[in-house]
Amino acid sequence: MKKTTLTALCCLLLLLATRAQQTIPAYLDDALPLEQRVEDALARLTIDEKVAMVHAQSKFSAPGVPRLGIPELWMSDGPHGVRAEIAWNSWAQAGWTNDSCTAFPALTCLAATFNPSLALEYGDALGQEARYRRKDVILGPGLNIYRVPLNGRNFEYMGEDPHLASVMVVPYVQGVQRNGVAACLKHFALNNQETRRSDIDVQADDRALREIYLPAFHAGVREGGAWAVMGSYNKFRGQHCTHHHLLVNDILKGEWGFDGILVSDWGSTHDTRQAALDGLDVEMGTSAPYADYHLARPYLQMLLDGQLPVTSLDDKVRRILRLHLRTTMNRNRPWGALATAEHADVARRVAEQGIVLLKNDGILPLAPGIKIAVIGENATRSLTTGGGSSELKVKRETSPLEALRALYGPANVTHSAGYASGRPAYERENPSPLPADSLRAAAVALARDADAVLFFGGLNKNHRQDSEGADRLSYNLPFGQDTLIAALLAANRRTVIIIVSGNAVAMPWLPRARGVIQSWYLGSEAGGAIAGVISGNVNPSGKLPFSIPARLEDNGAISFGAESYPGRDGRQQYLEGILVGYRWHDTRGIPALFPFGHGLSYTTFRYGKATTDKREYACGDTIRLSLPLANTGRVAGAETVQVYVSQRAPSLPRPVKELKGFCKITLLPGERSTATIAIPVNSLAFFDDRSSAWLVEPDDFTLHCASSSTDVRGSVTIRVR
Ligand code: GLC
Repeated sequence: MKKTTLTALCCLLLLLATRAQQTIPAYLDDALPLEQRVEDALARLTIDEKVAMVHAQSKFSAPGVPRLGIPELWMSDGPHGVRAEIAWNSWAQAGWTNDSCTAFPALTCLAATFNPSLALEYGDALGQEARYRRKDVILGPGLNIYRVPLNGRNFEYMGEDPHLASVMVVPYVQGVQRNGVAACLKHFALNNQETRRSDIDVQADDRALREIYLPAFHAGVREGGAWAVMGSYNKFRGQHCTHHHLLVNDILKGEWGFDGILVSDWGSTHDTRQAALDGLDVEMGTSAPYADYHLARPYLQMLLDGQLPVTSLDDKVRRILRLHLRTTMNRNRPWGALATAEHADVARRVAEQGIVLLKNDGILPLAPGIKIAVIGENATRSLTTGGGSSELKVKRETSPLEALRALYGPANVTHSAGYASGRPAYERENPSPLPADSLRAAAVALARDADAVLFFGGLNKNHRQDSEGADRLSYNLPFGQDTLIAALLAANRRTVIIIVSGNAVAMPWLPRARGVIQSWYLGSEAGGAIAGVISGNVNPSGKLPFSIPARLEDNGAISFGAESYPGRDGRQQYLEGILVGYRWHDTRGIPALFPFGHGLSYTTFRYGKATTDKREYACGDTIRLSLPLANTGRVAGAETVQVYVSQRAPSLPRPVKELKGFCKITLLPGERSTATIAIPVNSLAFFDDRSSAWLVEPDDFTLHCASSSTDVRGSVTIRVR
């Protein structure tokens, strides 16, 4: 080709490329910085388009801008899996046949694994499923602290300790968001019960707020980089949290620099002016007409009348546009996948590592080939449905009974319900519809002659049995289970009790029980995981993410009476302050039946002498603690070494000890290793409400290396200058 022709061709191509470049508007140009694209898009919007974006157009979506090719924003529950498609304008399922998912274990189980790398896999798998289902925001994780064992939604959260929840939330958020789907930290904040959730006015002091109830949200935002947060239904110090000057403007968006969207809970918005000025970005709700929402026509009218500044609208829209560029308009995000074998594997491993062996005199694991009587409704009942908004429609769910029959042989495994909880009921209490005596008699008869008995009971995500919208009314097991358990233990000493729940329960039968397991709503792979533990194919390694008090009144919040829980006349005082969970039990000398961090293994571990890299530290340093650990038993197993810190003489009251580090190590029989745990000196701070600042005081701090919050195996003391 002649030189001149080639030159002309190059010029033509350059011209076309330049023109093409000029015709791509900045907000659509991936090569430009995010903020520049946000500003360009904002400048193109009319006020009507902006106001449309800040409130729902349907049950789970907010409008985009069709004129500019900005897509709609689609959200879906929940923290444990992608909910079935919901109708446009009601809570009914849409009846799709392509939306069955993987149910991952409830977040109490994920927390019980004490394994952050599993949290990353969990978040990534969940994010893939949300992405494949075309959802741009997954409404999870739940991060509210477990304050009382009656809260209906504790199963959706990560237990009683802010450090555990803070460590586990970060990889979960990162895993979800690597798929171009926003995680949504909820419910911000202090939504620690379901009783009167829409108007209870929580009063908690600054130290409890900062040291207990906010840390997991702070970690999710600052370290996890969450792109969305959901405001909670309740009030805090008189204002609804969905639009809250202190919580949202000052702390979340001010101090923490959160640049994502604050979305309301569904119907949690109460006032247009507050929603406009106190931090709400997207108002979602439970019913149409959406044009009447606080941030719809009323907001537009106040803007046009000059009663509210347009800057309040622009800040919301900037955040929504930023979210679009990270999700719906992010051309590089992956395509996701739904209900795959890989996701089932993640679900199974989280379940296996979260199951907690509470008590075992050697009755577990059960040998192969024996005759097993399986008793209880939770051996067969689907537990992926129910519970409220975290309900799931699953591709697959194996029950404990199915898995045990597969493992031990169908002829060796019999079943009797033993009790009946009735149909899943959202309003009515659910008394047992069948004669309890005959159910119990049949179960006992079956149990009497078996080589071993496995009782699967607990709660079941029915109304008031671990469900959204209402708390439990009793600490005891429902449906006559305590009577049944006592009868089974009397009929056959070789009875193992498996509690399936998201909350602690009373265990009056404990002294006679030889083996007890705390299991969880384990999701799609429930059966395989629990059968694996029972048979010994899996060595349990879960640790309790919450305390199990012997009596309900041994719980701190409960011990202060109605004013503290559930509140009186719509007001509630968190009178236990920072002494939540084991902090209460340790500091007030009220031992729990089973303490936070407790979990046995089929092997044994020996802890060596803990050492630190230095004797003295300055603020900003990191303490490097080393702890030799040996597996002194006959099977491989994993131990979570926990480090609790005590300050010698704090100028303000502190709990006896606080979890500040943990590390889960897997060891073969006889294997020795060293747990290394890094603890930033700054994490030893307490919130000084005299100066409203975090403070690490020069003092001695003792680092307790422990197998649970009460089982301390060794300590080492360091000095902070
Ligand atoms: C519910 C829940 C929230 C859920 C939302 C949408 O009321 O409080 O967790 O994500 O509404 O279902």
